Amino acid sequence: MTAVDRVSGVFESQYGEAPALVWTAPGRVNLIGEHTDYNDGFVLPFALPHRTAVAASPVDSREWTVFSEGMGSIAFTASERVGDWGAYVAGVVWALGEAGVEAPGARLAITSDVPEGAGLSSSAALECAVLGALVDLAGADLPISRWPRIAQRAENEYVGAPTGIMDQSASTLCREGHALFLDCRSLDMKHIPFDIGADGLAILVIDSRAPHQHAGGEYADRRRTCEQAAKTLGVAALRDVDDLAAALAKLDDEVSRKRVRHVVTENQRVLDTVAVLREGDVRAVGPLMTASHASMRDDYEITVPEIDTAVEAALAAGAYGARMTGGGFGGCVLALIDADSGDRVAAAVADAFAEHKFREPVTFVAHPSGGAARAG
Ligand code: GLA
Repeated sequence: MTAVDRVSGVFESQYGEAPALVWTAPGRVNLIGEHTDYNDGFVLPFALPHRTAVAASPVDSREWTVFSEGMGSIAFTASERVGDWGAYVAGVVWALGEAGVEAPGARLAITSDVPEGAGLSSSAALECAVLGALVDLAGADLPISRWPRIAQRAENEYVGAPTGIMDQSASTLCREGHALFLDCRSLDMKHIPFDIGADGLAILVIDSRAPHQHAGGEYADRRRTCEQAAKTLGVAALRDVDDLAAALAKLDDEVSRKRVRHVVTENQRVLDTVAVLREGDVRAVGPLMTASHASMRDDYEITVPEIDTAVEAALAAGAYGARMTGGGFGGCVLALIDADSGDRVAAAVADAFAEHKFREPVTFVAHPSGGAARAG
């Protein structure tokens, strides 16, 4: 069954009529560039085939009734403050209002195959699919280039998670077969061809299924440290640090030095990755991924034992490179592998997890997919 059929079926059984339209938006992985977005730096995500679908029909009053296959039902009006998962929907209504678009009242149904709590941006997928459906119902002339900021605002100011712009940008702007090279300061973007199957390679996603503990507080803490360090260094954001050694010499605590070193070197690794991809040397991305992982583990200190084990096991099984993707403290690892070695690498990781008595990991091969789109 396609995502459109599934969500339309859910809509019909809930509301007794067919939806007026369906929008879908994907989850993402980030090939490289972690915790650089809120430092005005560079990222290189690509969209997953896993998508969240939103079926919608307008209603006469400014009220929203939402049924999520996984989460249940909520209803709210524009003046109500909504919590829990409903905040991602109500937050988009609010953020659209702030952007000058009055979202029409609607009935919505939601289905998703983006794994939740795995660091694959299920929340951005939900925000962006809802955004697409509401903008479309409103008939508003709102260029898609503005959507990431609006969805990010919903997440930052309504939901209350101080995330950067990467996930919402990936979920709206990615192009099939490409990675999205985004400058998170100017929001300039380039679609970098990433058809690695043609080179006999693949990206294996390993979901560690490690519980995300303290992720929110740790994320906010990293962000604060970066902002404070930028202030001390007299730059607008860590993206502006040109001379790393000089910057490190100016910081008097070891934690800030480590965080700054991660951000500055990670930004450079994104640029280096784009350069080798442009030269067509996909295998050369591997060592950059592995260096990125070491930096997240040792300097940014956002990995957990399951994640480090997955990276080590994938590398030992012949991956060209491997790294954690996403905010950290659990979530997924990406491994760049020979396309025909997926089962072997996955088995090696599963064996290592069993040895450590970790939960069994889930693996899949990720194909770069397209961003938010009307699907029906
Ligand atoms: C989460 C956030 C993003 C980004 C990553 C880390 O996914 O939502 O904005 O900061 O973590 O790179």
